[in-house]
Amino acid sequence: MLVLPHPIQELDLATILITGCNRGIGLQLATQLDARGDDVIAVCRTASDALSHLGVRVITGIDVADGDSLHRLKGEVGEQTIDVLINNAGIVHGDKFGSLDYDEMLQQYRVNTLGPLRITEALRDNLAQGSKVVIITSRVGSIADNSSGGYYGYRASKTAVNQVGVNLMHDLKPLGIAVALLHPGYVATDMTSGKGISPAESVSGLIQRIDNLSMENTGGFWHAEGYELPW
Ligand SMILES: NC(=O)c1ccc[n+]([C@@H]2O[C@H](COP(=O)([O-])OP(=O)(O)OC[C@H]3O[C@@H](n4cnc5c(N)ncnc54)[C@H](OP(=O)(O)O)[C@@H]3O)[C@@H](O)[C@H]2O)c1
Repeated sequence: MLVLPHPIQELDLATILITGCNRGIGLQLATQLDARGDDVIAVCRTASDALSHLGVRVITGIDVADGDSLHRLKGEVGEQTIDVLINNAGIVHGDKFGSLDYDEMLQQYRVNTLGPLRITEALRDNLAQGSKVVIITSRVGSIADNSSGGYYGYRASKTAVNQVGVNLMHDLKPLGIAVALLHPGYVATDMTSGKGISPAESVSGLIQRIDNLSMENTGGFWHAEGYELPW
């Protein structure tokens, strides 16, 4: 009989489910968490070559704004316990007072605000005591920090998801599940047309915040660099 020197159970891998994994910050989260040995479940609408080549488990065809998708996601995940759920998928539409597009605003609300709530609710039975729920929000959702205006739909969707995150904190606290709202910084992805810090730098900060998340600091709103943001 083959005797393994280190039984797999002792490696203490975390199962981490991430939405919006095919590009940008989500792809980088999957890359870094996989590299350190975590068991990544990468969720996306359509897998990119970069994600497919990573070698992690990929669940495609999941639109976070669509109820049927979430039902299918739950079916794919089954009974597996999720140690960290990272709600990362998001969209932005530039807008301007005087020519606001209310349908675009509603779509940002559906994806950025209701998406994380729908996913967390759909997968609530997969979370256990000690699990963590992370929402990648934005500091532009901070009312206190709004010194420049603009981005009506995006800002409001991120303010609202901050409220969702605090509500989840209240509902999940009795179950021993911690919640964090994390701002990644201004990161060079498609969302910013490639301007900002590297996804690798942002994600290394986000992972530190996730590692430091506990029942003692649940419900906080942090910058990836580690400081608390005002509501
Ligand atoms: N980049 C920044 O500077 C910055 C700053 C603050 C906050 N954030 C937040 O960070 C998160 C990731 O942003 P990013 O910069 O990585 O953006 P990105 O490069 O544009 O990637 C967005 C990701 O979200 C996915 N997505 C969009 N709509 C979706 C839907 N309805 N269902 C499922 N997936 C959907 C996209 O998938 P598809 O390829 O299928 O569209 C893609 O994987 C977002 O929540 C964003 O608001 C980013």
